[in-house]
Amino acid sequence: TAGPMVDTHGRVTRDLRVSVTDRCNLRCTYCMPADGLDWLPADDLLSASEMIRLIRIAVGEFGVTSVRFTGGEPLLRRDLVDIVGAVRALPDAPEVSITTNGLSLRRHARALADAGLSRVNVSLDTVDRERFAAITRRDRLHDVLDGLAAAHEAGLRPVKVNAVLDPDGGLEDAPALLRMCLENGYSLRIIEQMPLDADHAWSRTRMITAAQVHERLARDVELLPDPRPRGAAPAQTWLVGGHTALDREGREVPARVGIIASVTRPFCGDCDRTRLTADGQVRTCLFSTTETDLRALLRDGADDEAVARAWRVASWGKLPGHAIDDPSFLQPDRPMSAIGG
Ligand code: GTP
Ligand code: 5AD
Ligand code: SF4
Repeated sequence: TAGPMVDTHGRVTRDLRVSVTDRCNLRCTYCMPADGLDWLPADDLLSASEMIRLIRIAVGEFGVTSVRFTGGEPLLRRDLVDIVGAVRALPDAPEVSITTNGLSLRRHARALADAGLSRVNVSLDTVDRERFAAITRRDRLHDVLDGLAAAHEAGLRPVKVNAVLDPDGGLEDAPALLRMCLENGYSLRIIEQMPLDADHAWSRTRMITAAQVHERLARDVELLPDPRPRGAAPAQTWLVGGHTALDREGREVPARVGIIASVTRPFCGDCDRTRLTADGQVRTCLFSTTETDLRALLRDGADDEAVARAWRVASWGKLPGHAIDDPSFLQPDRPMSAIGG
C-alpha cells in the first residue's frame, strides 16, 4: 500500500539518487585509483526498464518527488536521455536532475533538456588547467567549461558547480572558481571531502573545512546569510553581495554560493535520501555497511508490492548518521564512484 517511506529516526524519503554506471572517464584522486576499478559486468547493471520500474515504485508507492542520476559518470550511459524521458512521463513525474563531470555535456545538454531534465550539477574542482589535470588525471578542463556553457545555453537552471578542494593548495582554487561562476551565472558549491576515496588516503586533519572555505571567500566578497529555508539540502548557502544570477524564469535573483560541510557539520538528521547503485542495490546512506538487493527481486519475478516492501525494510534500518568522527569508523567497501555521489 502506498505511503511515505520512513525510518526509525523520523525521517521521510523524498529524494532518490540513482547511479546509472560505475564507469567514469576521469580519475579524480579523491574518488578513483589511477588505473580505474574493476567495472561491473554489463549483466549486473540495471537495464533501463528495470531502473524505470524501480523509479516508478519509488514515485508511486513512496511519493518520491525528485530523482537524481549519478555515476560514475552518468553521461557514459547511452540510454540516459531515454531514461530521463521515461521518468518524466510517469504519473506524478518527479523533478529529474543529474550530477555529472560535464565532459560530454556539450553533446547531450540539449537532448537532456528536451527530455525533461530540469538541472545539472557539474563537478569541477579548479579552473587552473594544470591543477585540473593533476586532480582528475586527465587534461580536460576545456571540455568541462564548454559543457557548463552548453547546459546554461540549453536553459537548464540553476547550473551548479560542485568543487571538492584538494588538500594540497585547493583552498586557493576557491576564489577563482567563485569568480568564474559569478561571471557565467553558475551557482558554486564547495564540498568537504569525505572518506570515500578508492585509495583510502583521506585524512581528517588535511581535509579543507567549511570554516576555512568561508573565511577564504569572505576575504574577496561579502557573504550574507541566505534567508531562504535550507530544508534537507546539504549545502548551507550564502548570498554574494553585489552579484546576481538568473533563475529558471529568467528573473534576476541574488547570486549564491553554497558550502557543503558533510564532515564538520553533518546534515544527516534532515536526510531525505535513498540510493540505488548501478547494480540495483539499495543504500540508505553513502556510508551504509549493508545493501538490499532489489535487482535479485526484480529478476526473480517479484511484484511491485514485494519490491516496495523490501525497500521499506531497508529504509527503516537507515543509520542515524555517518559517524566519520567515531574512532571505530570504517570506510565503506565501495568508493564514491561505485555508490553514486
Ligand atoms: P541539489 O539538489 O542540487 O542540492 O543536489 P545535491 O547537493 O543533493 O547533489 P550533488 O550530487 O550535487 O551532491 C553534492 C555533494 O553533496 C556530493 O558531492 C557529496 O559530497 C554530497 N552529498 C550528496 N549526497 C550526500 C549524502 O547523502 N550524504 C552526504 N553526507 N553527502 C552527500
Ligand atoms: N567526498 C566528497 N565528495 C565527493 N565527490 C566524489 N568523491 C567525493 C568525496 N570523497 C563528489 C564529486 C561530485 C559528486 C558526485 O561527489 O565531486 O560532485
Ligand atoms: Fe569520475 Fe566523479 Fe569520481 Fe571524478 S568524482 S572520477 S568525475 S565519478
